[in-house]
Amino acid sequence: MQMHKGMNPSLRASHRSRFEPMQPHVTPPALNRLAKGGARRRTALLPVCSASDAGGAQWEVPDVEKRKTMNNVLLAGVALPTASLAGPFLKFLYPPGGGGENKPQAARDILGADIKAAEWLKAHPQPGARDLTQGLKGDPTYLITSPDGASLMSYGLNAVCTHLGCVVPWVPAENQFICPCHNSHYNNEGKVLRGPAPLPLALAHVDVGDNGTVYFSPWTETDFRSNSDPWWA
Ligand code: FES
Repeated sequence: MQMHKGMNPSLRASHRSRFEPMQPHVTPPALNRLAKGGARRRTALLPVCSASDAGGAQWEVPDVEKRKTMNNVLLAGVALPTASLAGPFLKFLYPPGGGGENKPQAARDILGADIKAAEWLKAHPQPGARDLTQGLKGDPTYLITSPDGASLMSYGLNAVCTHLGCVVPWVPAENQFICPCHNSHYNNEGKVLRGPAPLPLALAHVDVGDNGTVYFSPWTETDFRSNSDPWWA
């Protein structure tokens, strides 16, 4: 860089330091010596320990094979209880069925006994009489006497309210199902008369077996009340 005449030496120095890289005043052989010396000093500062150096105590570091064995034992100790807990938990997450969901299922009374059609009709002879039974997947389901009082209706009504899942009781005086939770009303076929329930009560087929037992089976056909696909299937 060009020097200006009469410039203050200190200003010249700062001027050079800002705009020109400072050159080291050390020759390459000297740098090499410094580097070697530094490496030696660093090496000299590194701690050198052995198993018997920690305050004079004698202790042993397990070798790799021992540590592997200990890890495997620990892993097995954790994996076995975890697997035994995970099995029932996963089973709980998936609803029972396993391919047999479409099979007819016996209607059961409050004690879990299969319901016989003849006994039911004897106890519920009035036309249109209905009462709760245990239906598909254990859902409370109404079994209904036919209008002539001689047989059962070919459908059952799932009593779970389509709003938030309360069980809806039958109110004979109103000829309606009325939900006690948020006052939804359904007609005698389970069709919504008043919300907030958004959907009709689900249907199930009702059949009587050769042994007189009443069976429920899934209703997957058109919903006869709305002429639309069943929302529950
Ligand atoms: S749960 Fe039936 S109306 Fe809300």
